[in-house]
Amino acid sequence: MNTTQKVENKFNNLFKFSPELVIKSPGRVNLIGEHTDYNDGWVLPAAINKCSTVLLRKNELDHSRAFAYDLDQQFHFRMEDQQKHEGWESFILGVTMEMKAKGAVLKNFDVLITGEVPFGAGMSSSASIECALAFGLNELFDCGFNRKELAFITQMAEHHFVGVKCGIMDQFTSLLGKDQHCLYLDCKTLSFDLIPLDLKEYQLLLCNTNVSHSLASSEYNVRRSQCEQGVEYLQSFYPNIDSLRDVSEEILERHKKEIDPIIFQRCLYVVQENKRVGLSVEALQKGDIRALGSYMYQSHKGLSKMYEVSCKELDFLVEQTEMNEYILGSRMMGGGFGGCTINIIHKNNVEDFIQKVSPLYQQTFNKSLTPYLVELGDGARICK
Ligand code: GLA
Repeated sequence: MNTTQKVENKFNNLFKFSPELVIKSPGRVNLIGEHTDYNDGWVLPAAINKCSTVLLRKNELDHSRAFAYDLDQQFHFRMEDQQKHEGWESFILGVTMEMKAKGAVLKNFDVLITGEVPFGAGMSSSASIECALAFGLNELFDCGFNRKELAFITQMAEHHFVGVKCGIMDQFTSLLGKDQHCLYLDCKTLSFDLIPLDLKEYQLLLCNTNVSHSLASSEYNVRRSQCEQGVEYLQSFYPNIDSLRDVSEEILERHKKEIDPIIFQRCLYVVQENKRVGLSVEALQKGDIRALGSYMYQSHKGLSKMYEVSCKELDFLVEQTEMNEYILGSRMMGGGFGGCTINIIHKNNVEDFIQKVSPLYQQTFNKSLTPYLVELGDGARICK
């Protein structure tokens, strides 16, 4: 029996009916443009072929039922339930509540969730669950939201129910990604270009540190507020500035002495990273993978030394690539404090690299390294 059948059987046994809908929504990688999305900047992510899957049906009960297949956990809730929940339960409640807040008329339902996006690896497993559920409920109850609206709804579920004031990149990519392409997304206007990702004889390799830091969500919110403080200060001189996308390095340098050094550093990183996203898109369009790789290294340096969201394990993995001419670029990916590095590596050298770095990583940190050769894929879709 394959996994799809197993999961469907479980649904039938638990809820005594077959699912009406099966939806898949992917995780993502991000080539460049880290911590720029909530600053109204630009990002260059891509949807991957690892997805979260939800199976759904309407039920006639006075409550809804949810089952997390991979955790073997079940929970029941009523639509009016406003209590705080933890973990995956908060994803379900968050999406349901935010859809209702936007005017959706939802009735009770049964849902089973399962996923292949590694958790805590910076590949947006939580966004992929939220997007699969929102996309599915939108179909099941004919709510009429478009994909961009669903991205906002799932982002708000993170803000209000999970407690991370994330940007729009992960949800947008999970819903609007396209196989073989990355999304060059303007996070202010939400306009985007699909850029074909042709890495020629190179490919993407993720190296998971298997570190997931408890600091990640609190420090994330701190970074966001530090950027806002920087903008607020500059606004007193330049009322037309709305966010860091409107700020140049020259403006920042002009006010360097008056701004708190930490705030200055955070803002400078974001301004420089925004610039690198544009340059990376140009490089990709010219087929200059080497240039793209060098922007990735610069991005990592900024994230580690200026934005300070890396950790010793991520820095170590990036350092290990610097001496290899068959790796063109490497950097930490996602929110930081753990998770994966993303690497552009020559197809012939993947095995070599993993064989060499895995034992070194194990020796140094007493943790194992998990490599993923990611392939790109499509955004949220109905499978049944
Ligand atoms: C997390 C957030 C995103 C984005 C990245 C950092 O993945 O969910 O919105 O801010 O971190 O680029």
